[in-house]
Amino acid sequence: MQIEAPRTQIPDGQDVWVFGYGSLVWKVDFTYERRVVGYVQGFHRRFWQGSHDHRGTSTSPGRVVTLVASNEYREKFGNVSEGDRCWGVAYLIHRDTARDVFGHLDHREKNGYSSEVVDVFGSDGSTLCSAAVYIATTENPAFLGPASTSDIAHTLVHSVGPSGRNIDYFINLCHAVGIISANHADEHLVELEAAVRRLAGVDRVVIHDFEESARMDLHCLVDAGVLGLRSPPVPEQ
Ligand code: SIN
Repeated sequence: MQIEAPRTQIPDGQDVWVFGYGSLVWKVDFTYERRVVGYVQGFHRRFWQGSHDHRGTSTSPGRVVTLVASNEYREKFGNVSEGDRCWGVAYLIHRDTARDVFGHLDHREKNGYSSEVVDVFGSDGSTLCSAAVYIATTENPAFLGPASTSDIAHTLVHSVGPSGRNIDYFINLCHAVGIISANHADEHLVELEAAVRRLAGVDRVVIHDFEESARMDLHCLVDAGVLGLRSPPVPEQ
């Protein structure tokens, strides 16, 4: 499937933020100045986008996440019981590397994503930044849309593509989201995770691989101070 790659608009001479809510949370293969945890308001994260190029193939697509705006969600897919905040990580990209970084990301997100701009908020509700975000709209040719939890879990467990197994993408994401938004469960992910673990079997040893890579990446999040860890106490005079 050939879909035109997104083209992020990069303002001349300015640093640019990008917000990640899917693989961009845990697979960070680009340079950035700093990163912060935050959320976007008015969106639901869903495993509704087909992956023909990374976690599946053209004949047997995997599933990756996209964001669906709440008003469109209600119109097309009915009511949704959970809240409409989606937690992720915003990265500040330096102006000198912005063209290269977004060239790389536009290519990476080429299977149906568009580049849009959103406000990102911090845990106290304050606006952190305005950021580019990759969203695969419900109209793009690779959009698969809703399916039962067990059907989605089946795809996640069995699909494999050039970037690896779909289940690695899934568990890395669950792991990272569980850490960055520990007090704000993502019901879609929680429900799918139970189904995936049932289907894959708790003793499926391969799970160890992605837990290892997730741990390493989460280590970076701790190093970067984005987990909301308090700064060290100021020594008394
Ligand atoms: C994102 O991570 O923000 C976009 C979707 C993906 O690459 O998984």
